[in-house]
Amino acid sequence: MAAGLSLSLWLWRSRCRALLSRPAGAVRAHRGLAAGPEMHFGFQSVTEEERREKIYQVFENVAKKYDVMNDSMTLGIHRVWKDILMHKMNPCPGTLLLDVAGGTGDIAFRFINYVRSVRQRQLQRKLKHHQNLSWQEIFDSYQKDQFNSLGDSQVVVCDINREMLKVGKQKAQHLGYSEGLSWVLGNAEELPFDDDKFDVYTIAFGIRNVTRIDLALQEAYRVLKPGGRFLCLEFSHVSNPLLSRLYDLYSFQVIPVLGEVIAGDWRSYQYLVESIRQFPPQEELKAMIEDAGFFKVDYENLNFGIVAIHSGFKL
Ligand SMILES: C[S@@+](CC[C@H](N)C(=O)[O-])C[C@H]1O[C@@H](n2cnc3c(N)ncnc32)[C@H](O)[C@@H]1O
Repeated sequence: MAAGLSLSLWLWRSRCRALLSRPAGAVRAHRGLAAGPEMHFGFQSVTEEERREKIYQVFENVAKKYDVMNDSMTLGIHRVWKDILMHKMNPCPGTLLLDVAGGTGDIAFRFINYVRSVRQRQLQRKLKHHQNLSWQEIFDSYQKDQFNSLGDSQVVVCDINREMLKVGKQKAQHLGYSEGLSWVLGNAEELPFDDDKFDVYTIAFGIRNVTRIDLALQEAYRVLKPGGRFLCLEFSHVSNPLLSRLYDLYSFQVIPVLGEVIAGDWRSYQYLVESIRQFPPQEELKAMIEDAGFFKVDYENLNFGIVAIHSGFKL
């Protein structure tokens, strides 16, 4: 009853807001812009350029509170999803990773931790097999490992938003990550990297915000080495109708309120939930990844499809 009442209130408020906000056409006429193809910014219709600007603003606004909001909105579960992505990738020392839309660095830090622990285990195995090593030899091995704990692995975080990168860099400094990590300002639709450069490309909760997904996928394909892997972690679609209704209630009723309380920003979080509903479902995204040229494209639903991991290979 109470939930029904608040849902009606929310619908009424959204309608008022939609009526009060100027339609995209009016904005275009005001600025004298040519009418480009209409796109979605959440449930609003906008031009490509307007969408890019608005998304930039969203992440500029939320950058400082991004991490704390992520934990509150997902009750910390985004950490588990990101860990699952890393286990799926299973990188070995020497892997070159490009993390696009990498924001505040969550994927990059996990990658570094993962590779370090693989390398540590490798070193321990190596020492076990050499039974008669002197103390000096063991010490030297460990010293060498200290200076190259990633075994030449590297991760490049690329994001279009200066503020998100700034927060990411501060976080890296605070947590003590520097070896093998770099930060690049760049657009997923036009990556500032050479062809055939990376072993793995990841994009976590980023592709939904990219305006031309087709271009981003083509760019992912271009910068990967032959044999390289594409991995995308993204909010997706829940097929169970009951769960889907509960999820909708939570998303539309709770997330914007949390956004307002924690980050003082209702609108950005309203966009977030709307953009999830507008994003192509699992099979559609799979077809788009195949269209970009990837092989063996597959996906795994997590938590009944709240999130999905799509994977593909450049052959
Ligand atoms: C929801 S955050 C995800 C951050 C991080 N990957 C994570 O999982 O926590 C989305 C990120 O996508 C970035 N982004 C949006 N459009 C982009 C584009 N065209 N190219 C690169 N990054 C983009 C935003 O700046 C933002 O940092």
